[in-house]
Amino acid sequence: MSARPEHTPAPTRLSDYRPPAWRVDAVQLDFDLGIDTSEVTARLQLRRDDAQDEPLRLDGEGLELLSITLDGEALAPTAWRYADHVLEIDGARDGSVLETRVRLKPAANTALEGLYLSGSREAGFLLTQCEAQGFRHITFFPDRPDVLATYTVTLRADRERFPILLAGGNPDGTGELEGGRHWARFVDPHPKPSYLFALVAGRLEKIERDYTTADGHAVKLVMWSEANVIDRCHYALDALERAMRWDEQTYDRNYDLDVFHVVATHDFNMGAMENKGLNIFNAKYLLADPDSTTDDEYRAVEAVVAHEYFHNWSGNRVTCRDWFQLSLKEGLTVFREQSFSADMNSAPLKRIEDVSLLRRAQFTEDAGPLAHPVRPSEYREINNFYTATVYEKGSELVRMTAGRLGRDGFRRGMDRYFERNDGRAATIEDFLTALGEANDIDLSPNLAWYGQAGTPRLKARGDYDAARHQYTLTLSQHTPPSHGQPHKQPVPIPVKLALFGHDGRMLPLHLDGQAAAGETESVVVLDQPEHSFVFRDVAEKPVPSLLRGFSAPVILECDYAPHELALLLTHDVDGFNRWEAGQQLAARAFDALRDGGDDAAPVAWCDALAALFTLAELDDALLAGLLTPPGELELADRQPDADPARIHALRQSLLQRLASRIGAAALHARYQSLAAPTELDLGAAGQGMRRLKRRVLELLALIDAERAHALAAAQYDNAHGMTDRLAALDVLVRNQATQGDAALAHFRARYDDNALALDKWFMVQAQIPGEPALARVQALEADPKFTLKNPNRARALLGTFASANPSGFHRADGAGYVLFAERLAQLDALNPQIAARLATAFNGWKRLEPVRREAAREAMAQLLGRPALSRNLGEILGNMLQ
Ligand code: ARG
Ligand code: ZN
Repeated sequence: MSARPEHTPAPTRLSDYRPPAWRVDAVQLDFDLGIDTSEVTARLQLRRDDAQDEPLRLDGEGLELLSITLDGEALAPTAWRYADHVLEIDGARDGSVLETRVRLKPAANTALEGLYLSGSREAGFLLTQCEAQGFRHITFFPDRPDVLATYTVTLRADRERFPILLAGGNPDGTGELEGGRHWARFVDPHPKPSYLFALVAGRLEKIERDYTTADGHAVKLVMWSEANVIDRCHYALDALERAMRWDEQTYDRNYDLDVFHVVATHDFNMGAMENKGLNIFNAKYLLADPDSTTDDEYRAVEAVVAHEYFHNWSGNRVTCRDWFQLSLKEGLTVFREQSFSADMNSAPLKRIEDVSLLRRAQFTEDAGPLAHPVRPSEYREINNFYTATVYEKGSELVRMTAGRLGRDGFRRGMDRYFERNDGRAATIEDFLTALGEANDIDLSPNLAWYGQAGTPRLKARGDYDAARHQYTLTLSQHTPPSHGQPHKQPVPIPVKLALFGHDGRMLPLHLDGQAAAGETESVVVLDQPEHSFVFRDVAEKPVPSLLRGFSAPVILECDYAPHELALLLTHDVDGFNRWEAGQQLAARAFDALRDGGDDAAPVAWCDALAALFTLAELDDALLAGLLTPPGELELADRQPDADPARIHALRQSLLQRLASRIGAAALHARYQSLAAPTELDLGAAGQGMRRLKRRVLELLALIDAERAHALAAAQYDNAHGMTDRLAALDVLVRNQATQGDAALAHFRARYDDNALALDKWFMVQAQIPGEPALARVQALEADPKFTLKNPNRARALLGTFASANPSGFHRADGAGYVLFAERLAQLDALNPQIAARLATAFNGWKRLEPVRREAAREAMAQLLGRPALSRNLGEILGNMLQ
């Protein structure tokens, strides 16, 4: 027995992987459901691996074992042992059937993992969450993704209290029982790992639709929710149908059961879950209506609905061998989801949004002590590895491979991948092998990307030889060391590029062995530490547009002159790179303000944007994006000894300069021209207008506060939908306008019974910049609607404060850290997954200036020293402090 405290168990290592000694081919589960106690009988059909001589060991946590039989005989007490979350059984043979009966306490389950209660005891419903290791909280089982079984699930419960009984798979009968009880059975013919098991039971309403797959299979699509929100499920049902069609058309993937159920809950640790045939969603990603849902949220609903649906192939039919391969399903599915969203909406805007998120969440993660490879080599708590690196960087790695193979080649490779691995638990090697073999390409060098933490730096230097009309582009790469990885390998970096002349037009490319001569865009691959690419017949000194479309997840270091970035910002036809040039230029302008450097960058940035502002043909949404410099977190990443208060102030003054340069009159005129049309247009044009309108109002508030606040107050009162209403509220509250309190009170009363809208009310206030934020957060904690027990509410107030309000959270006196650490301790006792997730807000602490750095370290160290910390929070804090 080890004396390790609970929060430092021995790590699980990829290199220790062994195939299961015992498999389960078929499972029969019988549930007797109740709010306070539920009982579960599991019959497992066992298969032994002859090559391994191991006793039968099953995972089980928090289970009260009621009975246990092997091949129909009660097991003698000496024939089994249950300790340290493992049940060990003597005497099992190949083909044996093991039956266990256990008791669970759903209403007492505040961790929201396994079987738990959503909502109140009187009106709520029961549901499960099993990924990654929740199934062991339901029954004894080899709870690992490479054990695939067919499931037959029978649910029994009181009919009055639980009229709806659902589990994954196809319906297989219902009936009455004595004493007002009833039953329902579901059979899932597709072998699946235990993390994809799900059930739901309670009072739920539905909307449904018939769907016929491209290969002719009739499917019932059903959305379920509590009665008061069922009319907000229509948008998600439409999105589901779009996603199903898209996957048929794009990848020839058809759905494979007779029913597809989707359930909304307000009590959920994550976004959503792809359980086979029974997806379960955080209500935030399923419910939508114009009155309470913003444009961004509409797009998020569409994306998450598609994401979970796409998992049916990338995740369920082909699953992961072990949890180290998590990105095999998540990176791939994020990529599929992003491609779908790009097809449904504007592709360049989608790319801008995705890269912004990557930088804000993943680059920062990769630059701090929590940095880890897309395929980690060890973990203590797998739930801590559902990260931006595994998801978003994982998607970028798939995107690079897709780009390399081209549209048809990637499709050929995906066909091969699905065909070879259907019904299997696969690895990232299996993925690259299938894609490579289908295209006669060796993709194994890409593995280097999966095994290394840290964001590669790509340095670019251009030399123009006027006499020989030759342009030499020298690229070099370097990945900084990270914990446990002092030396990094070079990785293959695809650099999509174009060369611009001084008039803003692309020059024809003549590059040996690369582009077809005369094309204006090409891709070069840097797969060594440094390489020079020579372009011939270049008529003038060009401005290179590099990494177009963000062709690789790297940090580009190129010593552009400000006017060169301004040229790209004005002329690049690659919408992404145009925005990117603006981001680079804004960051340079920010540095100049900070360091008191020369004025070239601020002037170039403001001038270029002021000119673009008047261009009629520029897309509203793109213009709004161009008018937004990198956020405070990204800017903080650019420097050691960051002072978040100063960064906030400098960024504000940069924006103020931009606003002055455009001018109050022009801003006001533009605002008026964008002001609300009478009908709410939820399409791209309407969304773009609202986005730009908000940006313009925010800029105007910096130079003519009184007028802007009056406009915002009027916009709040007259808004046709949540996007305009929330934007107005946000402008009033952040700028501490006198009209802000009335608007907040109105919002609060109007949405009193709408949990998702109220979350936004908490979020807006948690983002008040600077000193006043802490007192506001404390006041809101006393609000009767605040509770740590609901993950969405805890995230809305505490998560927003710590992760999205740097100037408010990172106070020099450390009071933000003290409050937050105290709440993390309380949360940890209720829900370790949420506590650990929120705690990552500290990840950037080592780059803070010394006073804040020490205060943050102190708060974390004190928290880590508390007794009975969870493994989840213990691992995150331990890693951050290492
Ligand atoms: N697989 C789910 C998805 O679609 C997320 C599950 C997250 N699980 C967790 N333990 N954090 O991305
Ligand atoms: Zn996923």
